[in-house]
Amino acid sequence: MFKRILITSGPTIEPIDPVRFLSNRSSGRTGCHLAEEARRRGLGPVVFITGPTAHIPARAQVVRVESAQEMRAAVNEHWRRADVIIMAAAVSDYRSVKYYPDKMKKDGERLTLELVKNPDILLELGGRKRRGQVLVGFAAETEDIFANAQKKLLAKNLDLLVLNEISAANPAFGSEENQVYLVRRDGVRRLETMSKALVAARVWDEIIDLAGRAG
Ligand code: C5P
Repeated sequence: MFKRILITSGPTIEPIDPVRFLSNRSSGRTGCHLAEEARRRGLGPVVFITGPTAHIPARAQVVRVESAQEMRAAVNEHWRRADVIIMAAAVSDYRSVKYYPDKMKKDGERLTLELVKNPDILLELGGRKRRGQVLVGFAAETEDIFANAQKKLLAKNLDLLVLNEISAANPAFGSEENQVYLVRRDGVRRLETMSKALVAARVWDEIIDLAGRAG
């Protein structure tokens, strides 16, 4: 049905020295379910670009990366041939300006680490999206969630944004279940709390609808 599906998943890790890094709580579950659901439905071959995670789909072309810059290079290699691109990875927003090749010493009581912004891979893709390509992003918001989601949808030129409201009731990161909103240009739909496998199935229903193809 699709020529090629590109999915990014998991966290990225940004090295500081040989033993330390910056990262986040992404488990990689949703990205993995998205790839497995695509295979179950026979939707097309999947290229799965993932940061370090235990959740790796069977029978996908798996590209393992660590940092945001490595993920960007892998995405740049594969995006052109994909007609569906789902960016489920929780890319670290910042990385250390400097990599310390020797393990940093704990000499002082305080330590200042200078960070620099990582490239926004999805924003770059949105800027060069081809006709017929379906581009899907994820967002985790804690305030003004719908306004921010609409802004992100337009700024990143997305067809669909899967919006997580991060709260005590819905931690999303690291948990088995999730409650999300599906944000499209033509409106927002709230899904009930459900397993991440079911969220992945609903996201594919939406993509198939957006692509105007029968499931
Ligand atoms: O702007 P924000 O980080 O909330 O957007 C999240 C979406 O953008 C996710 O789909 C994520 O994969 C993508 N992203 C990215 N590169 C970044 C930051 C986020 O591709 N540096």
